[in-house]
Amino acid sequence: MAAPRRIVITGGSSGLGLALARACVRRGDHVALLARDPVKLERAAEELRLLRSTARVAVSATDVQNPAGLQQAFEQIAKALGGIDILVNSAGVLREGYFETLPLRVHREVMDINYFGTLNTIHAALPHLKQSAQPRIVNIASIAGLTGVFGYSAYCASKHALVGLSEVLRYELAPQGITVQLVCPPEFDSPMVDELDRTRTPENREHTLTIPKVAVEVIVAEVLRALDHRQFLTVPGRLARLTSLGLRHFPAISRFIGDTRVRKAYVGPTL
Ligand SMILES: NC(=O)c1ccc[n+]([C@@H]2O[C@H](COP(=O)([O-])OP(=O)(O)OC[C@H]3O[C@@H](n4cnc5c(N)ncnc54)[C@H](OP(=O)(O)O)[C@@H]3O)[C@@H](O)[C@H]2O)c1
Repeated sequence: MAAPRRIVITGGSSGLGLALARACVRRGDHVALLARDPVKLERAAEELRLLRSTARVAVSATDVQNPAGLQQAFEQIAKALGGIDILVNSAGVLREGYFETLPLRVHREVMDINYFGTLNTIHAALPHLKQSAQPRIVNIASIAGLTGVFGYSAYCASKHALVGLSEVLRYELAPQGITVQLVCPPEFDSPMVDELDRTRTPENREHTLTIPKVAVEVIVAEVLRALDHRQFLTVPGRLARLTSLGLRHFPAISRFIGDTRVRKAYVGPTL
């Protein structure tokens, strides 16, 4: 078994964060899960302890919007795991809707969790990561951080901001030996998407069909491979990768495809 790494996963109680935690525990790593709901956290931790009884599994019920709470949480986690080597920022929320009808407080909420929440977490983790021999930060953004998507005015903005932060931190932290990595997954099945499916606009549904869903297992495998290779940007899934190349090199074609899809489904807001 490979040498155990000490990994903190925000959003580790659900979806991609939990799937990553399972893979890391199977690999022999020690993990700490950080999210808000203590019941979900404990359930996830129990499952991980059953996977490998020798794994150190810690939990912290902390909101990433609370910098003081995060500072305390990282001190406790570092004690429980005996240090921190890797921080995976997967905590996030998704709110979809027409820009004109999405309440302004929702824009702030999404930005506060997805962008400032990740920033707060990195701030709190840095002093601990600096004591590791091979420190890493992995930010889970989205392919919605590389393009615009109908209905995602709040979500896309928060993920674009996170992509920008990751690009800057990559330069700023590399001289200190800290590797920053960025993951931009396409849509995958998770509780987040189950909730979205209940209310999403028809235009969003049609536009997001441009990029096929990827299985969460594929994302986990590609994140683990990226960790091994210290790759900066990972866009999991072959078609999503092709799409991201199209977005970068042929933006006019990508917009034409998006416009055609949106026109086909357009209903618009009821004001
Ligand atoms: N699912 C997709 O299609 C998709 C595609 C691309 C990117 N992503 C990104 O991948 C990441 C994981 O998504 P997912 O689909 O796995 O979502 P998920 O199943 O809904 O999990 C989200 C996790 O974040 C935690 N969280 C939310 N707000 C938090 C807060 N304020 N403080 C601390 N923890 C918080 C949740 O726990 P609590 O609610 O208990 O706090 C939960 O553990 C997100 O960043 C998402 O934007 C998802």
